[in-house]
Amino acid sequence: MSVFEEQDYKKRFDWQLWKKLFRYLKPYKKHLAVLGVVVIILAGIDTVFPLMTKLAVDSYIVPRTFEGLWKFGFLFALLVIVQAVVVWLFIAIAGKIDMGICYDIRKRGFERLQELSFTYYDRTQVGWIMARMTSDISRLGDTIAWGLVDMIWGFTMMLAMAVVMFVLNWKLAFLTLSVVPVLAVLSLYFQKKILKWYRIVRKSNSRITGGFNEGITGAKTTKTLAREQENLREFQAMTSTMYHSSVRAAVLSSMYLPAVLTLGSIGTALALWYGGKGVLAATISYGTLLAFISYTVQFFEPVREIARIFAELQSAQASAERTLSMIETKPDITDSAQVIKTYGTTYSPKKDRWPEMAGNITFRNVSFAYSGGQKVLTQFNLDVKAGETIALVGETGSGKSTIVNLACRFYEPTEGEILIDGVDYRERTLLWLHSNLGYVLQTPHLFSGAIEENIRYGKLEATDKEIEGAARLVNAHNFIMNLEDGYQTDVGEGGGRLSTGEKQLISFARAILADPRIFVLDEATSSIDTESEKIIQEAIEQVLAGRTSFIIAHRLSTIRSADRILVIRDGRVIEEGDHHNLLKQKGYYYKLYTNQFMDEQETRLINA
Ligand SMILES: Nc1ncnc2c1ncn2[C@@H]1O[C@H](COP(=O)(O)OP(=O)(O)OP(=O)(O)O)[C@@H](O)[C@H]1O
Ligand SMILES: [Mg+2]
Repeated sequence: MSVFEEQDYKKRFDWQLWKKLFRYLKPYKKHLAVLGVVVIILAGIDTVFPLMTKLAVDSYIVPRTFEGLWKFGFLFALLVIVQAVVVWLFIAIAGKIDMGICYDIRKRGFERLQELSFTYYDRTQVGWIMARMTSDISRLGDTIAWGLVDMIWGFTMMLAMAVVMFVLNWKLAFLTLSVVPVLAVLSLYFQKKILKWYRIVRKSNSRITGGFNEGITGAKTTKTLAREQENLREFQAMTSTMYHSSVRAAVLSSMYLPAVLTLGSIGTALALWYGGKGVLAATISYGTLLAFISYTVQFFEPVREIARIFAELQSAQASAERTLSMIETKPDITDSAQVIKTYGTTYSPKKDRWPEMAGNITFRNVSFAYSGGQKVLTQFNLDVKAGETIALVGETGSGKSTIVNLACRFYEPTEGEILIDGVDYRERTLLWLHSNLGYVLQTPHLFSGAIEENIRYGKLEATDKEIEGAARLVNAHNFIMNLEDGYQTDVGEGGGRLSTGEKQLISFARAILADPRIFVLDEATSSIDTESEKIIQEAIEQVLAGRTSFIIAHRLSTIRSADRILVIRDGRVIEEGDHHNLLKQKGYYYKLYTNQFMDEQETRLINA
């Protein structure tokens, strides 16, 4: 299991954490103040209703008179109206705060996720992030907005009712309230137990979701390997834990409610017994007795609510811990304070101070290891002139993508430095480099939406003409026009409705739309038919013209047109030169070429 397994909960109440969380309440100070008043009024009204019953009984029913009843009716109607308005306000405001907090935290989280470096995504599962962004944040919003408000309401109401009861008849009050401490202890005990099982349910639920995720994304692979049965068995094991824990929680809940009801009845019975005697002895009025009975019933609701909230606070604290830990993660690759002062931040760059980029790239004694991994590059040196096209070839795992990702500053060297136009790239902003960069990934990713939107992603302010221009430049225009809705065609999730070659053409168009100085192509190994290959090859040549480019090439045609070919092995350049020179050397490249590319040549000859 991964490091990101839902951790167990800390027992202690963590003030620091809650203080941080309450910062998100700051923008809602006014709302909170109104809410506080509303809640207190509501608790007051809840306390007044039994008194109204007392009034009705003592002033009208027992004396059997209608005199002045209209006053009572008027007061009662007024109370009902005020209560309705206050309840409406209560729900509206608490709902607004709930939504607002969730929105703010999610926004913060999303911003942070955009800033985090590749290294973060190397070690963090998507499922884990999704759980933080969705269920954890909802739970926080719930607890903060509703839980705390419910707690204030509950305490105010209990206090008000207790005061009224003691004023009416302190002995009777004492007797009926004697069951409350028992109830509080019982509630806390049950809620904790129930929550413990729910926690296990949630834990297995997140595992199951992860399992679903893998099962669905890997559905095709599963089928090709005929692994359905094993997968089902693994999945069943996970669901059975969830089943058993859910049943335990349900059984406990079903025991809790009757226990509460019984206690409530005992309270009521005590009130009836002692109060009834009082009524017979004429020391207590009928109305007072009725009010007491209402109060005992009403008293139990807040006690139950508060016990539930107390129990939930613990899991909300865990949610808070995880969410804040995500929001507070520092990106591994950031601009220094000095750099930000000069060139601005990602969200407010000072573009007028940015230097023009020519596109010379130099690796100077660069060593690099992925976190916790072995060194992939050791004392690596490379000098790339502006406008040069470098092809990187080599076995899988030799370090080609690593070299390129370092050049793009998706990772930074562990030792040594990388210079762009003669200056260490850490002395400029990330945004400066990335704004001048076009990168087509090994597996091009399209976002669901129209083709046009996908191309526009490369430069948001591009006109339709520019978009078509970019598409034409990479030979994508023709195939796009052949689609049913042209540029408005929906590509489906992840571009699933297009072929790999088509996706690649669109990602070319997207990458060159912003006219980058540096272009990177991590070529997919998948073989494409000769016709598409020709189109893509032409597209590549168009894209490369006049830019510094790194091509991780698997296709002979791409490699041949490069200015310089680097043969990489174990993070080292073992051969270097253009295609013909390298062939003449009869070394590693020659072997690679004869093994891998001869077939391709033959096919070409046969097809020609
Ligand atoms: N994100 C990562 N975290 C840890 N190790 C990694 C990561 N990416 C690559 N590596 C390791 O670094 C080494 C070089 O990988 P790299 O991706 O640069 O190879 P490559 O030449 O691009 O291979 P391919 O042709 O298969 O794409 C490999 O040993 C690989 O296991
Ligand atoms: Mg690679």
